[in-house]
Amino acid sequence: AANRMWGGRFAKGPSAVMEEINASIDFDRKLYAEDIRGSIAHAEMLEKQGILTTRDRDAIVEGLETIRSEIEAGSFAFSRRLEDIHMNIESRLADLIGPAAGRLHTARSRNDQVAVDFRLWVKAELERTEAGLAALVEAFLARAEEHADTVMPGFTHLQAAQPVTFGHHCMAYVEMFARDRSRVRDCIARMDESPLGAAALAGTGFPVDRHMTATALGFREPTRNSIDSVSDRDFALEYLSTASICATHLSRLAEEIVIWSTPQFGFVRLSDSFSTGSSIMPQKKNPDAAELVRAKTGRINGCLVALLTILKGLPLAYSKDMQEDKEQVFDAAESLGLAVAAMTGMVADMRVEVDAMRRAAGAGYTTATDLADWLVREANLPFREAHHVTGVAVALADDRGCDLADLPLAELRKINPAITQAVYDVLTVDASVASRSSYGGTAPSEVRRQIAAWRERL
Ligand code: ARG
Repeated sequence: AANRMWGGRFAKGPSAVMEEINASIDFDRKLYAEDIRGSIAHAEMLEKQGILTTRDRDAIVEGLETIRSEIEAGSFAFSRRLEDIHMNIESRLADLIGPAAGRLHTARSRNDQVAVDFRLWVKAELERTEAGLAALVEAFLARAEEHADTVMPGFTHLQAAQPVTFGHHCMAYVEMFARDRSRVRDCIARMDESPLGAAALAGTGFPVDRHMTATALGFREPTRNSIDSVSDRDFALEYLSTASICATHLSRLAEEIVIWSTPQFGFVRLSDSFSTGSSIMPQKKNPDAAELVRAKTGRINGCLVALLTILKGLPLAYSKDMQEDKEQVFDAAESLGLAVAAMTGMVADMRVEVDAMRRAAGAGYTTATDLADWLVREANLPFREAHHVTGVAVALADDRGCDLADLPLAELRKINPAITQAVYDVLTVDASVASRSSYGGTAPSEVRRQIAAWRERL
């Protein structure tokens, strides 16, 4: 049979393959609440503008509310023949209230309908993301406070570089995730416009009040151009870009956790609730959650590239290609939500192995820069010369298999006679981190100041 919604010019229905490629109901049913909300706002506006009778409006609103309960109770029969969530709901409304259902679509098209539904969904998802990131930032602030004095090696090229504090390292992630959060807020601010009333693409001749529906749906204002309103998916692209950047941060953190939790590093121990065992090796405790966070990042990036590619060749205005926008966003949202939550749990629960971090902090001549800086300060050497002298000292220590601080003063003085006993004071990891009190530096005093400033800001 021909379609009930637009079958007028059709003699017969779609082939099975057409139905299969065309139907989006299996995934866009996720938009049911937004679709009903949008339709109620539309019906109320039509009534206020005298386009719909009060009786019809009441029947429509009541019918839509019944449908919402049916969907939430699991008793709604979704049909692929009806393509998508919009037509499934409208068709059920006709069953429930009869011909008045057919008046709901006055001054509206599925093009502005889906655009408004999807915007509402993405906006709510951005708000969920913001809340998730706030919890993650909070978890890091708590660990930073606890470990403002905990020394660990800082790395470049994954080679021990200079001692830092674990609190400082945590605060680096606070910066990153707080930026992600502000990107989320930027997305919301930019996408906070209602496309409803753009109709198919050209607007409508009915005296609609787009400001009224925009306000009813919680948008700041209506979109300004009807063609753009139904063509544009920037809000979805921005969501996916923001999600990809955030996932990239999560993935780098995940990689660090994977490395830190190896017995070879032993910097952290994941709680039982965020690790798994092996079915053959009884000793194993694997960081699966961190590995999956790392993998989800690939998936989220894929969603961004998929949607960019879907949109890149589309002429204005609506093309059915755009139906493929939803799965990318839904998939990324599920992945990102899980990744943020898993990471928050891991960070809050993991045991920080303070002694292992401290031992590693001093290994690999990490205070060599402190020796060079001392020579600049106390012996007035140019930094390049101090660097060379220190290099010779490191080579000597390396030869003897000892730390810089274990080299006898006499040996150091052979390398440069300006060196005195006082140099040993700067060769400890504690002295090293305490000295780096420049703005944004790793000194515990500075890290505490950064923490307090963030607490103030949040
Ligand atoms: N299911 C469609 C989508 O997700 C709804 C819009 C259909 N519009 C149309 N002109 N065929 O994009």
